[in-house]
Amino acid sequence: MRLFCRRAVNAFIALLLILVVSPRIHSQATNYPDKPPLLLGAAWYPEQWPESRWDQDLTLMEAAHINLVRVAEFAWSTMEPSEGHYEFDWLDRAIALAAKHHICVVLGTPTAAPPAWLTTKYPETLRWDENGRRDEHGNRQQFSFTDPKYRQFAHNIAEQMAIHFGPNPNVVGWQLDNEYANPSFDPTAKEQFHRWLEKKYGTVAELNRRWATAYWSQTYDQFDEIPTREDGENPALLLDWKRFVSDTWKNYSENQVSAIRPHADPRQFITTNTMGWFDGFNEYTVHSVLDIAAWDNYITGNYDYVANGATHDLARGFKNKNYWVMETEPAFVNWHKVNSPLLRGQVRDMAWQAVGHGAEAVEYWQWRSAPNGQEEYHGTLVGADGTPVPVYDEIRQVGEEFTKAGSAIAGTSPHSEVALVNDYDSRWAISFQRHSANFDPVGEMVAFYRPLREQSQSVDIISINAPFDGYKVIELPGLNVISQKTADRLMEFVRNGGHLLLGPRSAMKDEFNALQPERQPGPLAAFLGGRVDQFYALDADVPLSGDLGSGTASIWAEQLSTQSPDTTVVERYGKSNGWLDGQPAVLTRKVGKGRITYVGAWLDTALLNDITGGLLEEAGVQPILPGVPKGVEVCRRSGQGKSVLILINHNTDSAHVSLPEPMRDLIGAQSTAVNAVDLPPFGVAVLTRE
Ligand code: GAL
Repeated sequence: MRLFCRRAVNAFIALLLILVVSPRIHSQATNYPDKPPLLLGAAWYPEQWPESRWDQDLTLMEAAHINLVRVAEFAWSTMEPSEGHYEFDWLDRAIALAAKHHICVVLGTPTAAPPAWLTTKYPETLRWDENGRRDEHGNRQQFSFTDPKYRQFAHNIAEQMAIHFGPNPNVVGWQLDNEYANPSFDPTAKEQFHRWLEKKYGTVAELNRRWATAYWSQTYDQFDEIPTREDGENPALLLDWKRFVSDTWKNYSENQVSAIRPHADPRQFITTNTMGWFDGFNEYTVHSVLDIAAWDNYITGNYDYVANGATHDLARGFKNKNYWVMETEPAFVNWHKVNSPLLRGQVRDMAWQAVGHGAEAVEYWQWRSAPNGQEEYHGTLVGADGTPVPVYDEIRQVGEEFTKAGSAIAGTSPHSEVALVNDYDSRWAISFQRHSANFDPVGEMVAFYRPLREQSQSVDIISINAPFDGYKVIELPGLNVISQKTADRLMEFVRNGGHLLLGPRSAMKDEFNALQPERQPGPLAAFLGGRVDQFYALDADVPLSGDLGSGTASIWAEQLSTQSPDTTVVERYGKSNGWLDGQPAVLTRKVGKGRITYVGAWLDTALLNDITGGLLEEAGVQPILPGVPKGVEVCRRSGQGKSVLILINHNTDSAHVSLPEPMRDLIGAQSTAVNAVDLPPFGVAVLTRE
């Protein structure tokens, strides 16, 4: 049996892969025959500036090839200046003027920013924090997501907007609210949580059993006794609270969807803008009632393109199809400790990365600052004087390129043979009891994603409930919470030829966040033919060595053992805390036509790279374009008989990339096909076969 041998790069197979469309089909998110297929946009707040200024702004947008604006998002006090009195004339004029400049519109419902008359007259609509302190008017997002009165007002304004703008051919979609975030702990939320629990468990006795409430005398006699908290509580309660919050954001969305849908043109999508890995609620739950996914791509720290690419793939997985970047930064934000800019060229680099991962629109936040307000220092495209700032030209270049490449990219999307599972239950369960403060579940996801992406060049990030068919490799970096049903699906995947890799902390808990009765990986332990004898948080690195190379573990290490003769130990720990010395760290077993591998530690990048390489080779996964220099990202979008390669040089030096066949760069200076491209620092090529 060949186990994880080194990969040989086979250019011929790679070429075939470029030409052949994978069976796993992702679809386009939006399709407007009369609009450009790749949209470039900006958040525009016409209500913040005199109307006499609008035409000049839109002229400058058009000159930058901006063909999309998002408007009205926080304009509640302008659209409903007093209760039940709606004023949309100004917005009609703004949308009509935008249309004259060939700019289409996404309308935001303004519910993240209720007007003062509303919260003053109906203070019950305000959010309560965990300690029972009610918010006051000011800033934004100060509403309670459960309050019936607030729901009514939100429904009304969304409905009035939809009646008015639903038939407007220049409106292409709707964004609900803005960046759902904070739950409320007000009496209505508590009451709804109790009823949610009652519906789930039927009897309080069943809840007591599942939550093991004999612990610390938590036994409940009635659902109404149960506290509402976000941390420091019974882990079962905490997990159910997060699920309740997810369901509440879902029905918060449905409240507005039901107001908009009956009046909106069917081609108008409904979405909301999300925040990457944010774990306040389950995105898959909320997206089940939305048409497309859209996210806000802001960079924290330095631009780590692999980590940023992972977040794009995460967003694509919310609906398992192309998505929108509803907001991104024109070089810098205003909410870090030090708001240093992206380097010159990186704004364009990021725009193309978004498209490479499946975005159909990239929108900058924001066009221009409000004359006053909390965000005066944020990056913009024009200054307070109304003339372009330096990044405007870079964004205009993106616009020109989107126009040139749009028709080749239309109808295409990324297709992957490998998937990484993102599971909110597991991320929450780990975060509630990290055991090592350094164990960040997202950090762990990205650590596993990095070699997978670098070597396969295309990864889907999916929910544990997504279909597994079509994937050759599925990695579960930290599937801490597992149900028997999920375990059965995973075993079937392996038996049918799939390669499954589990990371540390896998399959420790059941769906009530209780410890599994068997050692990790619980219902998969017998299948693996091995188990976790003990887990350890690490305060120092531990050496490892074995068939796959040597390296170190940090943060977390599990002492494994085999229980079956055909389960192989592929890595062992070296000398460390005594407990781990010489013990198994990575196990693997061939089962049916596939393989299950358990990695019991947080490994260094090089070792994880080697393990991933072996797994991909055995599973028959090839890179899209072999032999590209480090720091050059390869993205492929295909569909409708087309295939487009997007190459992005994220390096500050130039890079030379050989192509498997002559290709034409749709945004390059040369109009004929080439066999290789030279990418300057942050250079991009968009290549098609001729
Ligand atoms: C986003 C938000 C925008 C704006 C932006 C600034 O999170 O949706 O309204 O505040 O941040 O970076």
